[in-house]
Amino acid sequence: MIKVKKGETLFEAIRKYRMNIDTSCGGKKKCGKCKIKTIGYIEPCNEEICLLTEEEIKNNIRLACVHGALDKDIWIEEANSFDDFQILSDEDTLVCGDEAGYVAGMDIGTTTIVLSVYKIDTAKKVEEFRFLNPQKFYGADVISRIQACNEAGVKELHDCLIKKVNECLLKMTYKIKRLCVCGNAVMTHIFMNEDPSSIGVAPYICKVNDFRSYSSSGVFSLPYDFEIQVLPALSAYVGSDILMGIYAVSLNDKELLIDLGTNGEMVLFDQDQYIVTSAACGPAFEGGHMKCGTGAISGAVDKVWFDRELKYHTIQNKEVTGVCGNGYISWIATLLNENILQENGFMEKESCLKEGIVLTRKDVREFQLSKSAITSALDCLLQDREVKQVYLSGGFSKNIEILDWIRLGIFYRSWKEKISISGNTALRGICQFAILQDKNKVEMIQRKSKTISLMETPLFFERFVDNMYFVERE
Ligand code: FES
Repeated sequence: MIKVKKGETLFEAIRKYRMNIDTSCGGKKKCGKCKIKTIGYIEPCNEEICLLTEEEIKNNIRLACVHGALDKDIWIEEANSFDDFQILSDEDTLVCGDEAGYVAGMDIGTTTIVLSVYKIDTAKKVEEFRFLNPQKFYGADVISRIQACNEAGVKELHDCLIKKVNECLLKMTYKIKRLCVCGNAVMTHIFMNEDPSSIGVAPYICKVNDFRSYSSSGVFSLPYDFEIQVLPALSAYVGSDILMGIYAVSLNDKELLIDLGTNGEMVLFDQDQYIVTSAACGPAFEGGHMKCGTGAISGAVDKVWFDRELKYHTIQNKEVTGVCGNGYISWIATLLNENILQENGFMEKESCLKEGIVLTRKDVREFQLSKSAITSALDCLLQDREVKQVYLSGGFSKNIEILDWIRLGIFYRSWKEKISISGNTALRGICQFAILQDKNKVEMIQRKSKTISLMETPLFFERFVDNMYFVERE
């Protein structure tokens, strides 16, 4: 609980105290996610009457970004806890190295971060830290993070990230020799305190695109030093997380790796070349930008079905708090199967699971945009090329129901038997690299990679409207 003083705004306070609040729209009063609970009454304003339920308003839930300076001191606390966010980490055994000691690998996602510690000579995981990216406060996607860097300065976002990682390093039981880091290009730039703005504007380039190695002493406040290694992105929109995914999976000919997170990245190994592309699919697949969207936390709806009426399951069977990405896919597929939602995305009225938990027409449209970005990117990447195997990667994909994805027209029906859920390949790759340090393999992947820029591919735009339809693909 924190005290907000008279004259301060709630938004300034949650920023100052780095409260773990979802601020998906970056404080633009649109997403309705920055919920806090006030101890004491504040008059609700128009935005809150539109974006919150009556029950929430009655229970003193308010939106942090919509109020001006307070005319009295007030205590506030988080309305939703994100502490139990389910982040997929990888349990696979890795290949041993021939040094003594410990290393760590860290995958910095736009939404979530996982830091794993391994003993080098046994390749066994000995410790792991999972947490929400503290920069979530500055917006849900990479574009809003770039904007935040332009407005507040990259140092502010860098410090916020480093402070959180430093806390984990202080808690760590083992002294590490090195920390290897991967992520999308915006995240790795911010980690290195480098300006990411060139990634957001044409011709979309990284300021830093080489392998970086430096000492931890100028970065973290710890009683010992270690080496930090930051892996390079393949291009502005294909980060070192996908490089490490390729490194981990070792694709064979005509095998496809799809990594779905806030961005959708995909790579096909064909004729001795890694053909790579990335679609900014938006956060809808992770519950972002949706009226009742939330992360995969306790109480999030993760499955919906029809049995005379809509039924649902929540994570850990807790009281419903919102809907996560899996829940939306399941819900939309169910509505399509029951002919409540049409293939063009039309439904007569919003769908309701219980009071306050709704799927609006705007949500469906948001989801269609994300879905079309993925499928249009796949069309550009594959262009009728044969696919023998599909590896689905990302914190998101562990519990997915493949048939729902096929029903929504995201994956082809012919892939049904070819899809394997491969966990967090970026994390597995970065930890394996931390252990083995085989830079030759990384350089080989870089050399053989060819990135397709969707902005310069007319087919992407030609397919985009058709791919908004929920039509199964053979
Ligand atoms: S409504 Fe406050 S951050 Fe979106």
